[in-house]
Amino acid sequence: LRSPTATATSTAFSDANAPRQPFVIGVSGGTASGKTTVCDMIIQQLHDHRVVLVNQDSFYRGLTTEELKRVHEYNFDHPDAFDTEQLLDCIEKLRDGQSVQVPIYDFKRHQRSSNSFRQVNASDVIILEGILVFHDQCVRNLMNMKIFVDTDADMRLARRIRRDTVERGRDVSSVLEQYAKFVKPAFDGFVLPSKKYADVIIPRGGENHVAIDLIVQHLRTKLGQHDLCKIYPNAYVVQSTFQI
Ligand code: CTP
Repeated sequence: LRSPTATATSTAFSDANAPRQPFVIGVSGGTASGKTTVCDMIIQQLHDHRVVLVNQDSFYRGLTTEELKRVHEYNFDHPDAFDTEQLLDCIEKLRDGQSVQVPIYDFKRHQRSSNSFRQVNASDVIILEGILVFHDQCVRNLMNMKIFVDTDADMRLARRIRRDTVERGRDVSSVLEQYAKFVKPAFDGFVLPSKKYADVIIPRGGENHVAIDLIVQHLRTKLGQHDLCKIYPNAYVVQSTFQI
């Protein structure tokens, strides 16, 4: 098995004549940890590059009629709730420079839109964001950089209550029930154990401007190195990992 770092080196920077392959960043972390804010800030700062965001949430499986009747018993925080094969296929295509159609998921109906998709075009940087993007090894192996957004559980629960009641049509008691029954156990069982795969751990999420600046600086170096390799094909690119 090749390590993710070895994959990143060989796929992104080794062949000077190969067409430029996008840099894939995984952003994981617990529910309402601020993953989206971190991604938005990276996208904003990399305004001179083509950057696309793909949400793991888009690959939630739609519920069957039977599952919908007992939606309170459905575990949306288990890896099986996602169509990981489809997610993998989508990221592989984007990495190969192809455009893809990403499903549109509705958190109120627990369904995907049956007739509309979001077109995501080829780009320089692909950001894949979601609670379980580090869970599957094949998905992990596609990533050149892995970021874990580490935010206190009480902060995350407070944000989750606000978001689910305001944006996702839930009431407070159902949010708390779901949190205790599924969200917290799955965080402890799947999300937290996947933190060990991260190259960078960001405390306090989107508030951490220093961390975002350092990540963007690193990305600029990596994106620039690809161009350097084209000019100096024998240049040796040093891989490094860092933690903030
Ligand atoms: N979920 C849900 N109902 C669904 C599908 C998913 O309640 N029909 C919940 C799951 O319980 C899971 C969460 O959605 O915990 C995943 O979304 P989350 O990571 O919280 O959303 P983001 O906006 O990506 O989070 P962040 O605030 O970190 O950006």
